[in-house]
Amino acid sequence: MKITKESGIPLIGYLAFGIIDRGTNLLQVRASSACNFNCIYCSTDSGPKSNCHKTQFEVEVNYLIEEVKKVVEFKGEGVEINIDSVGEPLMYKDMVKLVKACKEMKGVYKLSMQTNGSLLTDDIINNLKLDVINYSIGSLDEELACKMFGVQYNVKKSLEDIEKLIKKGITVRLCPVWVPGLNDEEIPKIIEYSKKVGAELGIQKYEIYKHSRKVKGVKPLNWWKFGKKLEEWEKEFDVKLKMTRQDVKIVKMDRVPEVFKKGERTQVNIVAPGWYNFQMVGVARDRCVAVINCEAEVGDLVNVKILDTNNNLYLGELA
Ligand SMILES: C[S@@+](CC[C@H](N)C(=O)[O-])C[C@H]1O[C@@H](n2cnc3c(N)ncnc32)[C@H](O)[C@@H]1O
Ligand code: SF4
Repeated sequence: MKITKESGIPLIGYLAFGIIDRGTNLLQVRASSACNFNCIYCSTDSGPKSNCHKTQFEVEVNYLIEEVKKVVEFKGEGVEINIDSVGEPLMYKDMVKLVKACKEMKGVYKLSMQTNGSLLTDDIINNLKLDVINYSIGSLDEELACKMFGVQYNVKKSLEDIEKLIKKGITVRLCPVWVPGLNDEEIPKIIEYSKKVGAELGIQKYEIYKHSRKVKGVKPLNWWKFGKKLEEWEKEFDVKLKMTRQDVKIVKMDRVPEVFKKGERTQVNIVAPGWYNFQMVGVARDRCVAVINCEAEVGDLVNVKILDTNNNLYLGELA
């Protein structure tokens, strides 16, 4: 579903598209929700094989740029725009234009992106004006990479792209999800490769969330065990792996005002099916609200009780 300015659908309030302001200088921008991978550990259960997302969203580029600009103006100087997605950001055809416009916004000092990297082309690499790419590469062994990503995956192409990005002056951070028992032997290889090519590292702890895909037989490590292993690798390879908010320069910053209070009842106009099958998207007070367990239809006006308002992401149920 294409979200245009004319649709009247606001770009704040819903997880699967638009702008997420968590009250820091890091502003998440989500242009589209689709993904081309089927990672067996995916925290959002994304990708073509997923059967829990019946609707995909894509925001029209000029509308998105206009709304991002407003939020950046509100927040002031020193904003990092992080292009991410509940799917794969590079599924968005207007990404080069979006990144260029964000880069030119007064107040934005840095642009970063989370990506599986598979859709990078020489043309995109040459024109994408990013400062940092967080590249999710989980294995240098092709067979295991294909198993982890649930699709055919070309390790050689990924490594070539990574080296091209670095040559272009883009900081590449290799961000494997470490799934204990699955890619343990790959992490040291990725660390060594990062040293060879001059990439940074951001090893991610495998987590299980409410809607994630679960890797059979694997339990997430606790933070203590995860930290201990990172310390071991730090010593063994003489690299820095443990990151703090200071390292990534995230600081508190004014948040776009929240418009609902938890527990409040309100009326919302149903404008679209939700990203999750059991949700609909409602609109009120210039915000989107995810209405769970909702059988109303597009165009209906329904009464909703607001269940959650965290970070201007609104969740409600029929009241
Ligand atoms: C949902 S993905 C979206 C961006 C892009 N598709 C990608 O995979 O890089 C956002 C980040 O979450 C990470 N991720 C996905 N599932 C995870 C899980 N179960 N535990 C920890 N990190 C996870 C991905 O590796 C990626 O860095
Ligand atoms: S982790 Fe990223 S690439 Fe993998 S399925 Fe999820 S959204 Fe897609």
